[in-house]
Amino acid sequence: MKTRITELFGIEHPIIQGGMHHVGYAEMAAAVSNAGGLGIITGLTQPTPADLANEIARCHEMTDKPFGVNLTFLPGFANPPYPEYIEAIINGGVKIVETAGRSPEQYMDLMKQAGIKVIHKCTSVRHALKAERIGCDAISVDGFECGGHPGEDDIPNMILLPRAAEELTVPFVASGGIGNGKQLVAALALGADGVNMGTRFIATKEAPVHQNVKDALVAASELDTTLIMRPLRNTERVLKNAAVERIIEKEKELGDKIQINDIMGEVAGVYPKIMSEGTMDAGAWSCGMVAGLIHDVPSCQELVDSMMKEANDIINARLKAFAS
Ligand SMILES: Cc1cc2nc3c(=O)[nH]c(=O)nc-3n(C[C@H](O)[C@H](O)[C@H](O)COP(=O)(O)O)c2cc1C
Repeated sequence: MKTRITELFGIEHPIIQGGMHHVGYAEMAAAVSNAGGLGIITGLTQPTPADLANEIARCHEMTDKPFGVNLTFLPGFANPPYPEYIEAIINGGVKIVETAGRSPEQYMDLMKQAGIKVIHKCTSVRHALKAERIGCDAISVDGFECGGHPGEDDIPNMILLPRAAEELTVPFVASGGIGNGKQLVAALALGADGVNMGTRFIATKEAPVHQNVKDALVAASELDTTLIMRPLRNTERVLKNAAVERIIEKEKELGDKIQINDIMGEVAGVYPKIMSEGTMDAGAWSCGMVAGLIHDVPSCQELVDSMMKEANDIINARLKAFAS
């Protein structure tokens, strides 16, 4: 399938794997890229820029297809050495960067001079327009359904995507809630040029996470995620578990007075315990409503192939039959 996104990134299928903390290692990115999508290494999961350089080198050994690196610009207190991470990306010959969080504006010149294509993840049309204005090549439009940080506007993709289509000139992908070929076709119909998936790619054979995480996704329904950290204006969609219950209790108890320190034990440094050790109640971890559509753990190739087959079948049969 050819779209503006496949053309922009030089990939076979319009399917991107979004950056995911402690999931987006070289094995994940290479598996998605080898399947014809765009795999993305999560930059800040690597403790230092030198570690990111190694991870990029490992990924080059596993695939000769294009892959990208996610750079998440964190809110406030944390301040990783972004210029050095970008240097590792440039020196590693990576030509695609997925940015997220705060605006990538101050690093755009650096990335553009190196010939890097930038896709910025946004949860609102106004942020997407700003990203377009500062020179981003594409946008990942992240709806309310998404795993991770859906922002504070709570607009689901059924509205957000056609709104983005009304306003944007650069290509965009639908992100949040996507897991099958029906949804890929729907995203294309709503004006997107492809999809970005997080949660769905965790339940794949190659995802370098503990089997407990994959089992939890297969077991979960669309009712099993919830939002935390809204009072901190850092809303995150996570899978419900004991740690999340404790966070919600504290949010009820402390109301607007809650500080990040009040929930540090449940949110800081918990990803390795969950993703590598499989201790599922160790803390809050991002998970999208699409968990309700995840019923198996295929390889990335099987997942991408089945999505593309389903999408093509729908376009060629079901939709064609409706055309008058
Ligand atoms: C476990 C997990 C970790 C994530 N970590 C990051 C991250 O570090 N940076 C980022 O930009 N997005 C992160 N995301 C968001 C994904 O890149 C993607 O935008 C999102 O998962 C899309 O929604 P979906 O899960 O419904 O497919 C994460 C998502 C999940 C599920």
